[in-house]
Amino acid sequence: MRTDTLPTISRHDYQPYPYQIEKVRLEFDLAAEQTLVRLAFRASSRDGQIRPLVLDGEDIELIEISLNGVALNAQDYQLDEQGLTLSPAATEFDVVLVSCCRPQENTMLMGLYISGQNLFTQCEAQGFRRITFFPDRPDVMSRYEVVLRGDAKRYPYLLSNGNLLESTTLDDGRTQAIWEDPFPKPSYLFALVAGDFDVREREIKKANGQPALLQVYCDRGDGDKTEWAMQCLEHSVRWDEQRFGLELDLDRFMIVAARDFNMGAMENKGLNIFNSAYVLADAQSTTDASFNAVEAVIGHEYFHNWTGNRVTCRDWFQLSLKEGLTVFRDQEFSADMLAQGLDGPQAASARAVKRIDDVSVLRAAQFPEDAGPMAHPIRPESYQEISNFYTATIYEKGAEVIRMQHTLLGEENFQAGIREYFKRHDGQAVTCDDFVDSMDSVYRQVKPGRSLEQFRRWYQQAGTPRVQVSLQHDPATQTATLTLRQSNAPAGIENKSTPKPPLHIPFALGMLDQQGAPLTLHLDDQQGDTLVLDFTEAEQSWTFTQIPDAPVLSLLRNFSAPVRVDYYRPDSELALLARHDTDPFARWEAAQLLATRLILSSASGRTPSATQLATVVQTWHALVQDPALSPAYKARILSLPSERELLEQTQPMTPRAVVQARRQLQRELGLALTPYWQELYQYLSLEQAPYSPDALQAGQRSLRNLALNYLLVAGVSTGPRLARNQYDQATNMTDRMGALSALVNYGDQEDRQDGLDDFFQRWQDNPLVLDRWFSLQATAPSTQVAQVRALMLHPAFSMRNPNRARSLIFQFCMNNMQAVHTPEGYTFWAEQVIALDKLNPEISARLARVFDNWARFEPEARDLLKAALERIQAEPGLSGNVAEIVHKALT
Ligand code: PHE
Ligand code: ZN
Repeated sequence: MRTDTLPTISRHDYQPYPYQIEKVRLEFDLAAEQTLVRLAFRASSRDGQIRPLVLDGEDIELIEISLNGVALNAQDYQLDEQGLTLSPAATEFDVVLVSCCRPQENTMLMGLYISGQNLFTQCEAQGFRRITFFPDRPDVMSRYEVVLRGDAKRYPYLLSNGNLLESTTLDDGRTQAIWEDPFPKPSYLFALVAGDFDVREREIKKANGQPALLQVYCDRGDGDKTEWAMQCLEHSVRWDEQRFGLELDLDRFMIVAARDFNMGAMENKGLNIFNSAYVLADAQSTTDASFNAVEAVIGHEYFHNWTGNRVTCRDWFQLSLKEGLTVFRDQEFSADMLAQGLDGPQAASARAVKRIDDVSVLRAAQFPEDAGPMAHPIRPESYQEISNFYTATIYEKGAEVIRMQHTLLGEENFQAGIREYFKRHDGQAVTCDDFVDSMDSVYRQVKPGRSLEQFRRWYQQAGTPRVQVSLQHDPATQTATLTLRQSNAPAGIENKSTPKPPLHIPFALGMLDQQGAPLTLHLDDQQGDTLVLDFTEAEQSWTFTQIPDAPVLSLLRNFSAPVRVDYYRPDSELALLARHDTDPFARWEAAQLLATRLILSSASGRTPSATQLATVVQTWHALVQDPALSPAYKARILSLPSERELLEQTQPMTPRAVVQARRQLQRELGLALTPYWQELYQYLSLEQAPYSPDALQAGQRSLRNLALNYLLVAGVSTGPRLARNQYDQATNMTDRMGALSALVNYGDQEDRQDGLDDFFQRWQDNPLVLDRWFSLQATAPSTQVAQVRALMLHPAFSMRNPNRARSLIFQFCMNNMQAVHTPEGYTFWAEQVIALDKLNPEISARLARVFDNWARFEPEARDLLKAALERIQAEPGLSGNVAEIVHKALT
């Protein structure tokens, strides 16, 4: 572990690596206690000059090294904490080196580590240097041949990237497997897996007619839970062929599930390694939301094969090149899967459900990031620790920036831009600019006189832009003039005096008349229900014609840009939009805004007026009865905005008041509409087809659970009985968990405890379900710090397993606002950051980030949080990961 402060790395300091390494041969003698690694490669200077060869290496031991077959002595090279430097005497030479690492002691889960009995690697971003000495940077791309040797009993499966050349039993009884990856790749995409697994296989035919073998590996005993993953993988292959024209380029594609994994999953070439939470699924143990998450993550990693692996990043500042684009692709994949077989408004509403969920994530996670000390552009200018930059900004805002390009070009031209991108850069390590160049080459062709030059500012500016809207209607000329003003305040460490010139914002809008009927927009030579404005100036106006009466604006349809919109208008207009807008996203948005206004005003101590409340209740009343809405959409539009999204809109932030005000409105809606929730609940409880995670069934279940929650929160006397019955009779996890969480959150002490005890008895042997058991308690309103501490002593709790730590500690700190926003809560948080840091700095830094926005809280919280951060900062031996976060938070 590092104790010194890490240097800051700047984007502008990029230098190409002076050597080319075409081929790499790696040999592993695998064992949990100590693994021997033999590496051989030939390096050749790129520019014909002789230069030092600098190899990264961390936490590994050098055993021997030779240059052109001559063994080197310690005085022939420099070895320190960061790696190894050789001084070759020619421009081309062979290096062979042997080193060792200790998987068993690897609690960071970076490099080679053990999970259960099995060995896994994790190399992105800088884990390969914990396996061997190498230029561990994405612009050094090599072809890998990998030899794996290990105990036949313990490691019957020996896997690495690409194709299996041979598998043999050695004289000493061990197994040996040789793998070759035909594609050059950077070290971060290297992977190996050794262990014993259940395997599911499926042979498919690729679009080109060639066969391919799909495999899903998981812990022994879990093999019956990989059917869904396999199906998702096959769908992903098909989708990428059909929508993007991109084919699987290998004969074999493997996914392996690991219980201990820092992130969601990893796109290693041909050998994806997954957090088991995103592989394993069955009706009994998995919720609908998790089925969807498995689909999204399998799609995401698979799609990386082209956007990430075939074309990779030149340096880590370009991370969003692969992540933003691939998130956009997985979002579209999920949306297409939801809309399968539907068309017209039904397809639009199915896709809108996915859009709503994605935008909610953006607002709950990325907007706060952009408003805090870690704010950064989707292409950062500097960092200390790259693992701190796997952020909602790089991923989710990055996807929004790709989506805006898609909106500006349209599907067909966007696909032409993608083809251009691969034509130019297949097999290369490139930059975000290279991507935009490809898109721009198409954009310039189809929109003569325009370019994406200004659009590139989205890659440079941090912060969430604000768009202020005003409208002027002139009955005499029957015109409506819309004026938009944009601004983007300095964010994070951005220099306050650096100007932030206006962004190119695709701004989609529509209009309704005062009765809620859609208007056709006429603007110059354009016409349509929805128009996308090219909003490029600080202030800009558009005049629409043929509008006899003052219109109702439907703004930022489908969330066409990651901005905040300010428009002053009466609640009655929002209510009208919530009932009638033809854009399902904007319609949902209107309902959310209506509820948000009421919650925020009561959180700030004002008692909402009777009319204000009545407007919300009447709107919910109309929506709950609307027969045209799909169940999934209805469940979204009748839900209140999340605590996190609401909190983000208070200034200073007042978490406890927000939680109470939200709960209050939930109660009002529960009470005012009790008969409707009851009716909905009964109706949705009718006999169901056998379980399937499809959109219709999942929508019905989420709506039924929503109704149940309203009944319980309002204290309706029949509620707890309904919940207990639902829990007992559930045949799937969505129903069981829905009932249990209603009881735990809103039921009495006895129901809560009975439910939790029963659930534990049933599921104690399933780690993923047990995570839910911990999470549920972590977030329950009745839970205080003392209970969390007690749960940490539970035999099933472990800090070493990231999923378990997240399920209890992160869930409590992030999602139990009532209990964590207390002096004891803050102390607990600081203690856990420090404790986790000793085991796994990457995970700890994420926990540290939970309150990096301390300065935005109400004064008492602010002082306490600042003290807690200072306490973390003063901890001796703090990792560079946490140090960077805390330093930025306190600056
Ligand atoms: N590249 C992975 C993904 O987004 C995420 C990841 C990053 C996983 C770093 C592990 C370590 O798909
Ligand atoms: Zn990714």
